[in-house]
Amino acid sequence: MKQYFVNNQFLPAEAAKLGVEDIGLLRGFGIFDFFSVRGGKPLFMDFHLQRFIHSAEGMGLAMPLNLEALKDTIHQLLLLNNTFDAGIRLVLTGGYSPNSYLPAQPNFFILEQNFSYPDQEMYDKGVSLLFHQYTREVPEVKTTNYVVPILQAQKLQEAGAFDLLYHDGQEVSESSRSNFFAVLPGQRILTSNRNILKGITRQHVLEVAQFTNYTVEEGILSLSDLAQAEEAFLTSTIKGILPVIQIDGQWVGNGKVGPVTQELMAYWDDYVDQYLEALPLPNAE
Ligand SMILES: Cc1ncc(COP(=O)(O)O)c(C=O)c1O
Repeated sequence: MKQYFVNNQFLPAEAAKLGVEDIGLLRGFGIFDFFSVRGGKPLFMDFHLQRFIHSAEGMGLAMPLNLEALKDTIHQLLLLNNTFDAGIRLVLTGGYSPNSYLPAQPNFFILEQNFSYPDQEMYDKGVSLLFHQYTREVPEVKTTNYVVPILQAQKLQEAGAFDLLYHDGQEVSESSRSNFFAVLPGQRILTSNRNILKGITRQHVLEVAQFTNYTVEEGILSLSDLAQAEEAFLTSTIKGILPVIQIDGQWVGNGKVGPVTQELMAYWDDYVDQYLEALPLPNAE
């Protein structure tokens, strides 16, 4: 049976439980991170673990394990589960708070989950987004709070839209579970760097984008600049690079997946393949 890791021990998934008094539940106070394992190899794991530690610091939660111990534990979990393709979810909650409010000693667990990529059609045709005026609380931390996008799920479905695009009335920040890039006139690729979660995919896409003839920038993406965008795309762990062709009913550029996005998607696949190739298999010392 599949094993999870809960507060210092490996347990069969069904036996893995937390108490109902955890303020992760009572107050929604917790953080997580999520990365993929492909062909037995964890993709960008160190980056995700460092972000997890950074998120814990940002929320004043004590990390139960240091980076090396975290890596070692995940290594063991992958071996126990004989993991090939999966998502690994690390969660750190506020714990059993004496006053049911302020954080105590955190509960920590690691789950191994199935995941599926978006349909190929979405990469071929691109997806649409709906604007939503919202800035995540503690944007630089990967908190477990997804109340706003979950409440909008039905509206998205009715509109045939894939996700929300957050803005504050002036600037675009990110999507609900992805970062956002725009290809602008003047051969510029721009992604916001304010009020966002610094995505691990975003970080690597910024590197990959250097291979194009375009300048790559992190900066302010105003709504008025976005109106001039020729292309746009989302980036995230599960999606890689996903083209965006429509926002709030307006086409982006000519409403087709553009050449820059296509070029980046091709570079991205190679980049990930090469990255994985260079990693040792989990059972290799
Ligand atoms: C709010 C938010 N922004 C951006 C991202 C993309 O981050 P990553 O590329 O590390 O998956 C996520 C991922 O879940 C997210 O929740």
